[in-house]
Amino acid sequence: MSILVTGGAGYIGSHTCVELLNKGEDIIVIDNFYNSKPEALKRVKEITGKDFQSYTCDILDKETLSAIFKENNITEVIHFAGLKAVGESCRLPLAYYHNNISGTVILLQVMEQFGVKKIVFSSSATVYGDSEIPYKEIYKTGNVTSPYGRTKFMIEEILKDVYRSDNDWSVALLRYFNPIGAHESGKIGEDPNGIPNNLVPYIAQVAIGKLAELPVYGNDYETPDGTGVRDYIHVTDLAVGHLKAVEFVRKSAGLEAINLGAGKGYSVLEVIAAFEKASGKKINYKFFDRRPGDIDMFYADAEKAEKLLGFRTKLSIDKMCEDTWRWQSDNPGGY
Ligand code: NAD
Ligand code: WQD
Repeated sequence: MSILVTGGAGYIGSHTCVELLNKGEDIIVIDNFYNSKPEALKRVKEITGKDFQSYTCDILDKETLSAIFKENNITEVIHFAGLKAVGESCRLPLAYYHNNISGTVILLQVMEQFGVKKIVFSSSATVYGDSEIPYKEIYKTGNVTSPYGRTKFMIEEILKDVYRSDNDWSVALLRYFNPIGAHESGKIGEDPNGIPNNLVPYIAQVAIGKLAELPVYGNDYETPDGTGVRDYIHVTDLAVGHLKAVEFVRKSAGLEAINLGAGKGYSVLEVIAAFEKASGKKINYKFFDRRPGDIDMFYADAEKAEKLLGFRTKLSIDKMCEDTWRWQSDNPGGY
């Protein structure tokens, strides 16, 4: 009995593999390595001292996917595989719709063919759009601002239809807030291609001297210090949330959307200060205009995760920055 992890070599996938293996689960990883490297899987093995099967496979390749389901006794799927860059999705919407939506439909077809009906899906807080804070799972979704966000919303709707058509399915739609940090060993972490889009990888590259200064997008938001506020969650906490979600989908059929966040927000300036403390480096920054599509502040209502999964985040913003810094300074060139 194995858990199939799609996109398992990626940032969140690799950390989740570590927690799954440490818990004694059997896993099978597939990835096309579009946005990751096989080295990440080697390091997962190093950290855990455990081996597992992995395949270079694109979820759009139905034939190979079917062969993998045939070869293995897969009982649940954690589905991370997808493209995730918001700006890029505005330039290349069709690539995003094809990869994320067609890829998920193909995966679901193969799961159905093999009678595997338990799935944990990587959704995103972006499905809420600009809503009242804290974001609750009962809020209306779909008011999204990018093709990327729309793929997450549409996949949620597809999974709801699949469940409506067959109540034997068990589906967890995990809506992540802002995952940051790295494994505390310093061996795995986020390894962005080119100039990072997201705040913490950008700060880490300023701290290591690869980038000169952080652009802070907006200092006139309606927040205590004028900069954007987000709910940052340590990637290891997030990985543990997936363990709990797998246990949850195993237990019973149903469909639940569940926020995975800390339930607390930090501003850009607060994150900079925490990173300076963790790294002992000065982070140069300069204010710029607001980034299109950004909103002032959001964070999760984290109660449902606690009630349904028994999950609550444990790791602080300081720990998130310390672990990011260890990963960045031990691996200045990434993997
Ligand atoms: P990532 O890019 O590091 O990992 C995704 C992995 O999927 C990569 O290894 C990539 O090579 C693989 N992949 C992409 N398309 C594939 C395909 N067609 N077939 C096989 N493999 C494919 O991203 P991540 O940060 O680990 O995110 C994982 C998931 O969580 C994504 O679905 C993302 O949209 C979602 N998510 C991420 C964040 C975030 O801030 N990182 C927030 C919310 C949701
Ligand atoms: C955080 C804050 C920026 C970069 C994105 C996606 C979202 C989800 C997580 C996948 C904001 C500010 C940023 C910089 C800055 N991904 N910032 N300078 O935008 O909350 O969420 O990642 O689902 O869908 O949109 O995260 O890290 O980009 O930004 O000032 O160079 O940092 O304006 O206030 P965001 P982020």
